[in-house]
Amino acid sequence: MSGARRRVAILISGGGSNMMTLLRDMATDHPAEAVLVVSNRPGAGGLEKARALGVPTATVDHRDYPDREGFEAALTAVLEPARPDIICLAGFMRVLTPGFVRRWHGRMLNIHPSLLPKYPGLHTHARAIEAGDAEAGCTVHEVTPELDAGPVLGQARVPVLPGDTPEALAARVLEMEHRLYPAVLRRFATGDRTPVFLP
Ligand code: GAR
Repeated sequence: MSGARRRVAILISGGGSNMMTLLRDMATDHPAEAVLVVSNRPGAGGLEKARALGVPTATVDHRDYPDREGFEAALTAVLEPARPDIICLAGFMRVLTPGFVRRWHGRMLNIHPSLLPKYPGLHTHARAIEAGDAEAGCTVHEVTPELDAGPVLGQARVPVLPGDTPEALAARVLEMEHRLYPAVLRRFATGDRTPVFLP
């Protein structure tokens, strides 16, 4: 690989299984390297897992700030010294303001558990089942000010099975998330924004 590796910061809120697939992939021959994992929840399980892989971590607890702008100023203060080229949202459950999103324009990715533009927001699997959809899936997209609406960088599909519960469908989609996000980041880090479609 010629040239410097792209520096990646990952934002999480929870267990960080998507984060782990990104960290594991970046631990191999890869155009990017992980420089920081930040959680907005002090107890997020992903923090310990990242540390175990030797990746620096930080916590910026959103409850310590009176408003979104205050939280995001603190987040920026933690991110900037790590000089990330790319920010990956991986189960990061805070809505970001247009000001923060603009600062990282073209450099911030998110994974969302639906086939966008279907079902932005929450409860995606229940909504897909309720609608009688034949398939569900996940999307990696560029983050833009409108929630879950930026350009698609990758998508993976799974069938919705008879009798599926939101939990069963979520588990099946999550398996695909773990394949899709690393594939997209690997491509994106080389400057290639051609969408990845799985399977
Ligand atoms: C994933 O399913 C991800 O797509 C979803 O949260 C889960 C996090 O799991 N993200 C969103 O709903 C974002 N709006 P993880 O912490 O194990 O990666």
